[in-house]
Amino acid sequence: MPTPQSAILPPVSPHALFLTLHLQAGDEALRAVRAAAAGFSALVETQAALDPDAHLVGSLAFGAEMWGRLSPQRPTTLTPFVTLGSGALSAPATGGDLQLHLHGARADLNFRCARAFIEPLRPFIAKADETHGFMYLDARDLTGFIDGTENPEGEEERAEAALIGDEDPEFAGGSYVIAQRYVHKLHDWERLAEHEQEGIIGRSKPDSVELDDEIKPPTAHIARVVIEEDGEELEIVRHSLPYGSASGDAGLFFIAYAKDLSIFQKMLARMFGQGDDGLSDHLMQFTQAVSGGYFFAPSKERLAQLGG
Ligand code: HEM
Repeated sequence: MPTPQSAILPPVSPHALFLTLHLQAGDEALRAVRAAAAGFSALVETQAALDPDAHLVGSLAFGAEMWGRLSPQRPTTLTPFVTLGSGALSAPATGGDLQLHLHGARADLNFRCARAFIEPLRPFIAKADETHGFMYLDARDLTGFIDGTENPEGEEERAEAALIGDEDPEFAGGSYVIAQRYVHKLHDWERLAEHEQEGIIGRSKPDSVELDDEIKPPTAHIARVVIEEDGEELEIVRHSLPYGSASGDAGLFFIAYAKDLSIFQKMLARMFGQGDDGLSDHLMQFTQAVSGGYFFAPSKERLAQLGG
């Protein structure tokens, strides 16, 4: 099996840097992207060597349009993100050509690595959206709920959920990525009683125990995203982290990896009122998605080959 990029299988780190880049059209920009792709794994390893205890890891992923410019073959389920819903219940598509995800124990190394990555691309950047995520308390979202309880654990389980295998051999070891920034309405959320919040998430607040089916509302977040097909639950590997400032916007940068992009589409459809039952995720009344894109993170070998 080809080697997955290093950010995907390790657990969530205390600090992450998420950078979405929109690049200019043209051959010069494309050449710069090819060079950045070819050198990416070595760049992360060099920066990580400054402090091996920080376990700096990274992934570089490509939007559908950019991938089409780079390669004639296309991963089977790669497609652009399409806006869901409208108004307060909406997930806007903002796309992007490149999605950089760095994580580790040191925010300074993430920053250093991102700067080194971006330097040769700088003349071609049309728009950049950068978010620095941090682990909050004992791995909680800013809503106060533990985030990651049901994330696949251990390298084998995570690889099974995140990595393309024999179903698309050309792209084996690669992974589809969803990246969405959410701005939380914390004042509204914090006015709710704890039992109301628990009904919205579907788990208890102190220790993340799933609510009994008899009391868990069908609009609870976990009731929307737990989907069974042929007796198996659809799995994704989440790497989200809180971000923001105390005086301004704050929320969750949602990023996850999966072997099939349609799993993200199915979960989002049920969250944003486009599933079979027409219900939506009650949690979405307390947060607003402000960006959204789908990307493909090729295996390390495939990434290196993009250099030509
Ligand atoms: C503001 C945005 C979001 C917040 C605050 C949030 C928070 C949470 C929390 C607190 C849990 C329960 C603990 C856990 O198992 O991790 C959870 C579970 C989960 N979330 Fe989210 N989430 C958000 C968006 C999303 C999105 C966009 C998706 C999918 C596209 C998603 C997929 C999942 C999945 C698959 C689970 C595990 C369900 C299970 O197996 O029990 N979440 N989320």
